[in-house]
Amino acid sequence: MTATKQILASVAVFSLCFIGCTRPSDEQKMNHFIDSVMSEMTLTEKLGQMNLPVTGNIVTGQAQSSDIAQQIREGRVGGLFNLKGAQAIREVQRIAVEESRMGIPLLFGMDVIHGYETVFPIPLAIAATFDTEAAECMARVSAKEASADGICWTFSPMADVCSDARWGRISEGFGEDPYLSSMMAAAMVRGYQTDNLADSTSIMSCIKHFALYGAVEGGLEYNNAEMSRYRMYNDYFPPYRAAVEAGAMSAMASFNTVEGVPATCNHWLLTDLLREDWGFNGMVVSDYTAVQELIKHGVAADKREAARLSLEAGLDMDMVSEGFFLLEDDKTMLPLVNKACRRILEAKYRLGLFDNPYKYCNPDRVAKEVFTGQNRDEARRIARESFVLLKNENELLPLKKNATIALIGPLADTRPNMSGTWAVAATPWRYKTLKEGLTEAVQGKGKVLYAKGCNLTYDAQLEANATMFGREMRDSRSAEEMRREALSIARKADVIVAAMGESSEYSGECACRTNLDMPDSQHDLLVALKKTGKPIVLLNFSGRPVVLNWESENLPAILQVWFGGSETGDAVADVLFGDYSPSGKLPAAFPRSVGQLPMTYRHYNTGRPLPNGQDTFSKFLSSYIDSPTTPLYPFGYGLSYTTFEYSHFTVSSSPAVVTLTVTNTGSIDADEVVQMYIRDIVSMPARPVKELRGWQRIHLKAGESKKVKFSIDEETLGFYNADGEWQKPEGEFEIMVGGNSCNVESLKFNVE
Ligand code: BGC
Repeated sequence: MTATKQILASVAVFSLCFIGCTRPSDEQKMNHFIDSVMSEMTLTEKLGQMNLPVTGNIVTGQAQSSDIAQQIREGRVGGLFNLKGAQAIREVQRIAVEESRMGIPLLFGMDVIHGYETVFPIPLAIAATFDTEAAECMARVSAKEASADGICWTFSPMADVCSDARWGRISEGFGEDPYLSSMMAAAMVRGYQTDNLADSTSIMSCIKHFALYGAVEGGLEYNNAEMSRYRMYNDYFPPYRAAVEAGAMSAMASFNTVEGVPATCNHWLLTDLLREDWGFNGMVVSDYTAVQELIKHGVAADKREAARLSLEAGLDMDMVSEGFFLLEDDKTMLPLVNKACRRILEAKYRLGLFDNPYKYCNPDRVAKEVFTGQNRDEARRIARESFVLLKNENELLPLKKNATIALIGPLADTRPNMSGTWAVAATPWRYKTLKEGLTEAVQGKGKVLYAKGCNLTYDAQLEANATMFGREMRDSRSAEEMRREALSIARKADVIVAAMGESSEYSGECACRTNLDMPDSQHDLLVALKKTGKPIVLLNFSGRPVVLNWESENLPAILQVWFGGSETGDAVADVLFGDYSPSGKLPAAFPRSVGQLPMTYRHYNTGRPLPNGQDTFSKFLSSYIDSPTTPLYPFGYGLSYTTFEYSHFTVSSSPAVVTLTVTNTGSIDADEVVQMYIRDIVSMPARPVKELRGWQRIHLKAGESKKVKFSIDEETLGFYNADGEWQKPEGEFEIMVGGNSCNVESLKFNVE
């Protein structure tokens, strides 16, 4: 019998001793158990708990003979990540539980970012739904599927606010707004963990990347992120904090530095703020090899020093660097090692792994609960909610199903690119391409003709960079040959549907861009297609806001489809043919040029702003000589197949309530996302010109009106000072309502 099994038996006795008097609380039982386990552990075994190697794709047989298997037997591994499959995980867990001295179960983590085998839209697209229930549902389904297949820990949600679309990882977060990001991050934590982490369908959530990763300078991956604490507290910290308050039981330190100190070894971030101020009581893991990267950052002379600095800062688990073992001979580290090891054991305890280490490895569940019809229906519903209609001249959309459609573009018939970036568990061979989805939708009525038309870009190297992980798509035909084919089917069609933009790995980790225009070959193809005189609907695929100046001037309809996940083909058909009216809103502005970045509607005013309504150059006012200051499409923007009218807008002081009426003035039933913004007119320090502080997604039948109400409280209006102290609202505020951040009605309001 392993040591842990004996302790489990003794803890049962511990509980029995309380019969007749006050029963021990769950917390007391856990503490007693962990005390007992830790009293038996050697220092190496404790450091082993703090070690998180990557497995890649080891299969059962390999695990037995691999170096990792031996390390597990020696108690030198606390968890593994990105190993897929209940069977393989059960086998590796068996080695830990049956063959190591302590028998402590492993954590099995994975980047379950937007679904498991049922893939949902990328997180940025989930944010575009402005639907927290959708975010929670996505996380719930992900947790059910992942937990059925052996996973108990996901490195999600990513709560990094980002207003710089050059950064490829904007795809993995919720965009530019801290309030929207907070709501989405908290909803996802609830979906993953539920209120019972020990449930066999719950998995531990990991809030990342703490902190400020979305503010990397120049939008360059892994770069530094520097700003005032005032901005940190108000503009970047809220989503992490919301996730902590929602109960996230783990957090990941970010790669970047904050105030010159890499987050991995930043005591202020990991201990003072996260644990002491915010009361986080879970475990903190480093990002991939981030501990050893402290050497390159120039803050540690060697890996041993890097490990010491990280431990002292409050890091509990080292992903991949295996640095903590280097502290084995330093007895002064023991109190910190004990703390870190305890937090990891607590996570395992709370997940119920000590009671049943194989609780997530039930092959029957895989067959019944993964990639089910019901899960796929949810993914399809949420995907269509996430699409944003950017333009629809003369109501070109929705299309008629009896039309002849020329479906053209490098994204039209590619299976692996539908899921988008970070879909580690995806099974793309089972997903429909867009061509298949549209063809099915018009079956018996219309026709879908197809031509690829061009490669992703003329630049073969860039295309290789943007199509990693088995998502290659380059065609060996010449550009002329491909274009000729596309033009010939375009001429036979009633309408052209252009499936263009980014491939899934054009955004994501380490996929930063300095040019956000439509890639060259695709732009040229659009120009040629336009010359046919046929109307063009652009389905823009991208994992980030991109620059669509030419497209918005020259094409009649643009639907932003991001990456919709496994059900993209059907979800696009739902919207394209009008079975569902688009209702997504942009979670980050689409700029006019890279030169405007970073940009957010939520900026602070200058002393020389342009007059209201003007966005063009004015000497000695805050403006560009060569471009408007506004984005092409602002935050919160998105059209519908119907139109909405806002009326009867009132703000009352006691109780502090905003009311308005929204009417569907068109002839199609649809959802609208009604947004409320605030501005603190005079304040020290100054506040942004506009801040989202509430929204409601409502459904309105054609012709229907609904009254919408927002309650205003201290939390709606207050903010943090540079020391992180909450400032109660005072004085005059502006309250704004509208269907996007730019087009709002406004009223004044006094805090009493
Ligand atoms: C990413 C993390 C991810 C980790 C594990 C890193 O490169 O930054 O977000 O969770 O890898 O795959």
